[in-house]
Amino acid sequence: MNLLQTIGNTPLVELTHISKNVKARIFSKLEFMNPSGSIKDRIAKYMVEKAEADGKLKPGDTIIENSSGNTALGLAIVCRQKGYKLKIVIRDTTSKEKLQMLEVLGVDVIKVDAKIPPEEKYSYNNLAQSLSENDKSLFYIDQHNNLNNNETYYETLGPEVWQQREGKIDYLVAGIGTGGSLFGSAKYLKEKNPKIKIIGIDPIGSIFYDYFKSGKIVESKRYFIEGIGDEFLIKTAQLEYIDDMIQVTDKKAFGWAKKLAFEEGIIAGGSSGANIYGALKLAKEIDEEANIVTLFPDSGFRYLSSIYNDKWMRKENLI
Ligand SMILES: Cc1ncc(COP(=O)(O)O)c(C=O)c1O
Repeated sequence: MNLLQTIGNTPLVELTHISKNVKARIFSKLEFMNPSGSIKDRIAKYMVEKAEADGKLKPGDTIIENSSGNTALGLAIVCRQKGYKLKIVIRDTTSKEKLQMLEVLGVDVIKVDAKIPPEEKYSYNNLAQSLSENDKSLFYIDQHNNLNNNETYYETLGPEVWQQREGKIDYLVAGIGTGGSLFGSAKYLKEKNPKIKIIGIDPIGSIFYDYFKSGKIVESKRYFIEGIGDEFLIKTAQLEYIDDMIQVTDKKAFGWAKKLAFEEGIIAGGSSGANIYGALKLAKEIDEEANIVTLFPDSGFRYLSSIYNDKWMRKENLI
């Protein structure tokens, strides 16, 4: 077995402690158990192998991508294994731990000022694409618009959840970064059982919630949860699969990530905190027996200097 063959087939665990006051059972996929530590290893492997099969990549080429850090780390291990070079465009607000890990893996990192408006050419959102347009030796993966992202989860995460729950699932609850994981899995699960409901979690400051509720695109605002929410509509965010959405604040997401550590012994990232908050809110609202599945996309080890550091939390007014 090689490293890339260890991607996927993550455990699905029941969260019995944190859910003791609700009637529903809550389960979560421990996606931080992928080899680079996040759910994004799945797309890194799948999208690179798709590009190889389509003849778009050959050994020695350079891959470029914009990432909140996890896709970058997934691509970093895939590139080390397969012999590609990697350039990553990343916001300067990305957690220190993720930046350090990218350095250890020898990735060429281009840090951009997170305050640059998203529509500008040199913003986090546009720089990787602009660079690839001007330099044909760069292959742009484009996880935000490449539907191979969603297909990854249609082929892997969705079937895993279905098999691990032996079809006993009523709700899938998760945040939307690119949306690949939620919507790829949603497509598979709804094909198996159209009654399964898909609940999207969105940070306050992102545009998805308002767009889903009113069809309007509101102005985005800065928030701290990494990996979910967006300033634009993107192709991979297939909101048509969503049955309902729940909004979450940074304070709630980070507070619930800490509760997850205290109550279940699971040290997960801020988007996992957002997801467990959403799953429990849903469980309280429905107030009936149901099987709710959520995802823990990455580990809390990536946020020891932020979410799990009271000094930082106080400085940013989050506790
Ligand atoms: C920490 C974290 N949580 C959740 C997500 C969302 O995953 P997706 O892009 O599949 O919507 C990401 C994506 O980068 C992430 O890094």
